[in-house]
Amino acid sequence: MSPPSGIIDPMASLTTPPSFPNGFTNKGAKSSHHHHHHRLSPEYTIVEQPIGTRRPLRVVCLGAGYSGLMMGIVFNERMKNANAEFVIYERNADLGGTWYENRYPGCQCDIPAHNYAYSFAANPEWPNYYATSEQIHSYMKDVAKQYEVEKYIRLQHSVESAIWNEEKGKWDLKIRHGSNLIRDECDVFINASGVLNNWKWPSIEGLESYKGRLMHSAHWDSSYDFTGKRVACIGIGSSGIQIVPKLANVVKNMDCYVRSQTWISPAPGINEPTANDPEMDKDYNFAESTLELFKDPKVLRDYRAAIMNRRAENFNRVIADCDLQKQAQDMFRKSMTDRLGNSEKGKRAAELLVPSFPVGCRRQTPGPGFLEAIIQDNIELRWDDVSKITERGILTRSGVELEYDIIVCATGFDTSFKPSFPLVGRNGVNMAEKWENDVPKAYMGMCVPDFPNYFCFVGPNSPLANGSLILGIQATAAYIYKWMEKMQTEGIRSFEIQDDVNEEYNQHIQKYLERTVWTRDCRSWYKRGTIDGPVIAIYGGSIFHLLEAMKNPRWEDFKMDRTPEAKINRFSYLGNGTTLREAKGGDIGATQTLDFDEFWNLFNLPQVHD
Ligand SMILES: Cc1cc2nc3c(=O)[nH]c(=O)nc-3n(C[C@H](O)[C@H](O)[C@H](O)COP(=O)(O)OP(=O)(O)OC[C@H]3O[C@@H](n4cnc5c(N)ncnc54)[C@H](O)[C@@H]3O)c2cc1C
Ligand SMILES: NC(=O)c1ccc[n+]([C@@H]2O[C@H](COP(=O)([O-])OP(=O)(O)OC[C@H]3O[C@@H](n4cnc5c(N)ncnc54)[C@H](OP(=O)(O)O)[C@@H]3O)[C@@H](O)[C@H]2O)c1
Repeated sequence: MSPPSGIIDPMASLTTPPSFPNGFTNKGAKSSHHHHHHRLSPEYTIVEQPIGTRRPLRVVCLGAGYSGLMMGIVFNERMKNANAEFVIYERNADLGGTWYENRYPGCQCDIPAHNYAYSFAANPEWPNYYATSEQIHSYMKDVAKQYEVEKYIRLQHSVESAIWNEEKGKWDLKIRHGSNLIRDECDVFINASGVLNNWKWPSIEGLESYKGRLMHSAHWDSSYDFTGKRVACIGIGSSGIQIVPKLANVVKNMDCYVRSQTWISPAPGINEPTANDPEMDKDYNFAESTLELFKDPKVLRDYRAAIMNRRAENFNRVIADCDLQKQAQDMFRKSMTDRLGNSEKGKRAAELLVPSFPVGCRRQTPGPGFLEAIIQDNIELRWDDVSKITERGILTRSGVELEYDIIVCATGFDTSFKPSFPLVGRNGVNMAEKWENDVPKAYMGMCVPDFPNYFCFVGPNSPLANGSLILGIQATAAYIYKWMEKMQTEGIRSFEIQDDVNEEYNQHIQKYLERTVWTRDCRSWYKRGTIDGPVIAIYGGSIFHLLEAMKNPRWEDFKMDRTPEAKINRFSYLGNGTTLREAKGGDIGATQTLDFDEFWNLFNLPQVHD
């Protein structure tokens, strides 16, 4: 297939006669030497500007969660004076995404707070080793203020469609703000809509006929009083196991509907403190003296680094069948059976719950108080027992109708990666349809064939269980920055990841994943709710591996289309022979460094991964 007009095909000059701007032809060219001369337009003129001059660029980001906020920080810190416009459209009434929306009782981040913060914006005041959703939300608000990101965010603006316009080389956007439909356009469209953002009701027969109260974990009504209520709770993912122990304390009785085994880890989080950690109480609240210590940024930095190192060690057990994995299974099994105890109820729960698949196959769930709650007198574990939902409650498989005041659905999100609005790229390709017909595949989790000038945060096969997702989000933002700088300074009108590159990339990732626990026999949203489907959510390597892979963009993996000046001569951006710094009378003496390391860091990216 030949590329659409206006797209530069790196192989074109080898296989087809070159075409010429300005009506020039090569008729009569005698030798390849002449041929080259003749290709060039005699009317070529120097663009009278220094190298590095940025062409105008309008960038729109969808979503102000952890990802959109990170993009905003990069903009404020590096592109404020870069001839670029930036807007974040956020449909909610506040920023925060996950941490604004999820307010079910017990909602907290099970990654240590000091590593869930942006790596450059530590918060010495986290009161506990782990942070609640409210605390993370308020941290995000502080960060947005500190890095002046609020000015970019348009709240209660919902993106309703994004359609690539080939003629303009821009994205046409429709945005809903109350009853207004706003049109906007941008050169670069960044999708930071979050993979765990579209909560959904479970597909259970009769759900809509239920006359009692229905509540979803991600759409919680905090004003509802559970005291003395008869409750059903469906699902034991990360949300369900946090909700159950909180409700167990106040409800009259609760039935927990569970249909899959799951590993409940011994500790309240994924990455536990050790005896060497600074002082904290048994509930992991940092001691006053510890909070005092953390006021020293260097002390806190060392502590954050130590937690990150522990986390990296944890990654090693994702290789299925390795010794570390076997040890984890033994330890988890013992902890689960110990906690469930020797009562009939406890023994039965252990039989049902303790998995036959490796630790981490489904997302690891640390459930403080969960196992203890399901053996309480007023709580019942109902194994795979939903036949259908009725007006009054749940009809069990044995044909008994159980009545409830409220049914809590901790049943998760639409994790198909399909955009919830029309996202239409080159040649009318609709992303949702593309990923209905084929497995969602993105290059480094970010770029998708047919979608020029498009990036996605936390797209398919992202580092959701590979170490720190936050570092992945930071790396994505830095990578996007590099592309935008290139577009602005080297005459790139559009870029698109090549299809065969994306296929090869994904083949490698899938091949690697075969070695890991994620491809083993468990039902998981990492596999779109299947047991043996392809793993579409997780990256193939450690987070540090991903940082290394993304450090230097592989421009050769993309097709590019040039701006009109760059079409005449791709080096037109070299301009008038001077640099911006010189033109501004800036300091060239900064090239004189103290030592080799300083020189190297000035001329290259510093090494942080080896
Ligand atoms: C309950 C819960 C707990 C979690 N705990 C952890 C954890 O412990 N560790 C971890 O690493 N990760 C955890 N995660 C994953 C978490 O989602 C990510 O860590 C991170 O917060 C994702 O940020 P994001 O900005 O990519 O997406 P989100 O936070 O989902 O933000 C997306 C934003 O896009 C907006 N948006 C969506 N569609 C539109 C539209 N059409 N127009 C305008 N705006 C739109 C949304 O309103 C939202 O604000 C958890 C997720 C959940 C749900
Ligand atoms: N503390 C944290 O860090 C934290 C907290 C919450 C969420 N999260 C993140 O968010 C992700 C999603 O968590 P989640 O708990 O909201 O969703 P989830 O992991 O997808 O769990 C959904 C649960 O509901 C069950 N379920 C779904 N449909 C059902 C049906 N029709 N009938 C019966 N049961 C049904 C599932 O059972 P099956 O497994 O059998 O399908 C599963 O137990 C997590 O994996 C994690 O990444 C993190």
